Amino acid sequence: MKCSVSNSNPCSPQHFNGPSAPSPSLNFKPCSSLQYSPWSGLQAWRESPLNKNRIWGPNGPQSLVVDNCDSSIGSASSLAELGALVLSTSDPLTKSKLSHLAYSRWRRENLPLGSVSDPPSRLLGLSNPNCFDGLHSLAVEVSPKEIPAPKNSGLPLNAYMLHNLAHVELNAIDLAWDTVVRFSPFSEILGEGFFADFAHVADDESRHFGWCSQRLSELGFKYGDMPAHNLLWRECEKSSDNVAARLAVIPLVQEARGLDAGPRLVQKLVGFGDLRTSNIVARIADEEVAHVAVGVFWFVSVCQKMGRAPCSTFKDLLNEYNVELKGPFNYSARDKAGLPRDWYDTSSSKMQDKSDKQDKNEKLSLVYDRLASIISMESENSSLNRPPR
Ligand SMILES: [Fe+2]
Repeated sequence: MKCSVSNSNPCSPQHFNGPSAPSPSLNFKPCSSLQYSPWSGLQAWRESPLNKNRIWGPNGPQSLVVDNCDSSIGSASSLAELGALVLSTSDPLTKSKLSHLAYSRWRRENLPLGSVSDPPSRLLGLSNPNCFDGLHSLAVEVSPKEIPAPKNSGLPLNAYMLHNLAHVELNAIDLAWDTVVRFSPFSEILGEGFFADFAHVADDESRHFGWCSQRLSELGFKYGDMPAHNLLWRECEKSSDNVAARLAVIPLVQEARGLDAGPRLVQKLVGFGDLRTSNIVARIADEEVAHVAVGVFWFVSVCQKMGRAPCSTFKDLLNEYNVELKGPFNYSARDKAGLPRDWYDTSSSKMQDKSDKQDKNEKLSLVYDRLASIISMESENSSLNRPPR
């Protein structure tokens, strides 16, 4: 881990020590907070009953009765401890199942949030094949450049794309639980709602991974049949010391990328003729809006607590943590999630600047025209009034 948060406050201004960080101010710049309007479905998502649609039936999501008596989570007495258990679980299918059991138990038994001061490293992401524990369902994690091209992967294109998505969903389970566990000592600052939202996200992600795994199996494959990239966990690790950076880097950049990629992936699967997989992907992409929305909500909230402008703070953090924004952007999905365009799209602010300049130039040219005509009239008048020689 890059840095521990156990001895410092991840919301404190000293965590914004990048060269371009603004000095603290209680007033937000008008470009940022005024343009933020939360996703309209946020409250309904928060209040929704436990989602038991763990399998993908003939016509879509279908509920599955889950055995709630898993002894492996019985020893935990708080949400943070439950999250730590999920992070410590290496087998992906078990992790996914435990994630749902942990969230269900926390809701059912109304357990406290609790606090884990030293979060466990997740037991996934085996870049060292010697660590392979024989479960045969773990994907070896490699750098993004080492991911095989579809034709060299040994998987048909639909299974290849689905495997990539399964990997993203599996990582997303850990990313959400890591956010819950790592920042649990700061619940008085962040508020319990923060942890409830990210545990809910973890539950959604486990359902998504379950659908992907099920469909991979229907296609004759399984998660782990090809290597996967280590990008997401790397981004998670580098934002471990700062809750605002975690929110900026994971939900607002990485998960928002999922919103951009979703429709393209659906179209490719339709083109490939795999409508069942395309329906699963479309449903997952739709449900990801909530996760970006949660990220935006809490990012704005953390900025408010620190007296920072969300728009410029987001940009400063991406600079400080060396995170690149890549289009093309799915503006409608990002708008729906409440992610303001001027936070991520430099062309939107350039366009605005250009239009402001154009407007200003047009106004100036009107003034010049008016001045020119006044001067010309005055000049004519003065020649009329000039006494003859
Ligand atoms: Fe997901």
